[in-house]
Amino acid sequence: MDFSIAIVPGDGIGPEVISEGRKTLDAIGRAFGHKFNQIEASMGGNAIDQYGVPLPPRTLEICRHSDAILLGAVGGPKWDDPAATVRPEDGLLMLRKELRLFANLRPVKVHPDLIDASPLKPSLLEGVDVMVVRELTGGLYFAKPKRRWETQRGRRGVDTLRYTEEEVRRILEVGFNLSSSRRCKLTSVDKANVLETSRMWRQIATEMADQYPQVTLEHMLVDNVAMQLIRDPSRFDVIVTENTFGDILTDEASVLSGSMGMLPSASLSAQKSTRTRKSQSIMGLYEPIHGSAPDIAGKGIANPIATILSVALMLRLSFRLEEEANAVESAVATVLSSGLRTADIAPNGGNAIPTSKMGDEIAQTISS
Ligand code: IPM
Ligand code: MG
Repeated sequence: MDFSIAIVPGDGIGPEVISEGRKTLDAIGRAFGHKFNQIEASMGGNAIDQYGVPLPPRTLEICRHSDAILLGAVGGPKWDDPAATVRPEDGLLMLRKELRLFANLRPVKVHPDLIDASPLKPSLLEGVDVMVVRELTGGLYFAKPKRRWETQRGRRGVDTLRYTEEEVRRILEVGFNLSSSRRCKLTSVDKANVLETSRMWRQIATEMADQYPQVTLEHMLVDNVAMQLIRDPSRFDVIVTENTFGDILTDEASVLSGSMGMLPSASLSAQKSTRTRKSQSIMGLYEPIHGSAPDIAGKGIANPIATILSVALMLRLSFRLEEEANAVESAVATVLSSGLRTADIAPNGGNAIPTSKMGDEIAQTISS
């Protein structure tokens, strides 16, 4: 089949890891006879430098007309001035919002060969397999008012945490459905002891639970989840939560897998693709959860596996190519089992292979 993919490398290590993701796509295309038409588009700091805006209209158009988007990372110290009026991250936020990518799935698994790469005790990491479902287009990130101003008594700033029932329902639905197809345990994460939005969230989750008798729903406060994720991570199956909580918890969860460089993500909309031929496909944006890592950019040492696993998620979730997705994931597992490591997951950083070599090895394993 033919698919069109918008390729948005972004800033920092973004372009380096994206090159390796493209090698994976090409290898899958060759092995399974698909055509992945890839169109590059700019976003983030490089787009600010070139066009003055973090999300150029042409990039948005390309993304809108694609079956899926593969994104690297955005941001960097060059654009970090708090006084700046345009920010690289705004490009990503606008893209998520414009394409209504409200459901962000962040699977957290521990590859058995990487148990030692995590600073946590190996005994804690056995059997860890968590799916974090993060609400991505609402809450504190987007609601208005959101501004800074000056008064005679000093500066003021406001961000707003607002949710509608519909927004909460649709993300909880994703959580319930995912847990139904997994271990049937759903942890709804909130801060209901303090926040009104959380109390509403908790009420709606409780009401919805009747429709999913097979799922055991529990409510947990976000501060407690932050602790339990480190204390007893294998107790979780699916976690569903608000935008900001999900952002914070998934960085924490990446420690379980040994490195930020290991975790992929999928951001999905409910809309079916406009192209009827692929009525099954869902528009999605696929990106590693890590950032642009400016400190290691250009050195060829970034771990491309999070991006490569994001390609696997794209194949599975947007294109419904399960066998192809499995082929990517098992190639990653094979290469890791053979002992190859990028610096972030190599014991004491020793004997590491560069970014491009890791990409080549995974692509070759797919082809063999
Ligand atoms: C993430 C990132 C983004 C977010 C930034 C880059 C805006 O941290 O995808 O987790 O906060 O959502
Ligand atoms: Mg984040």
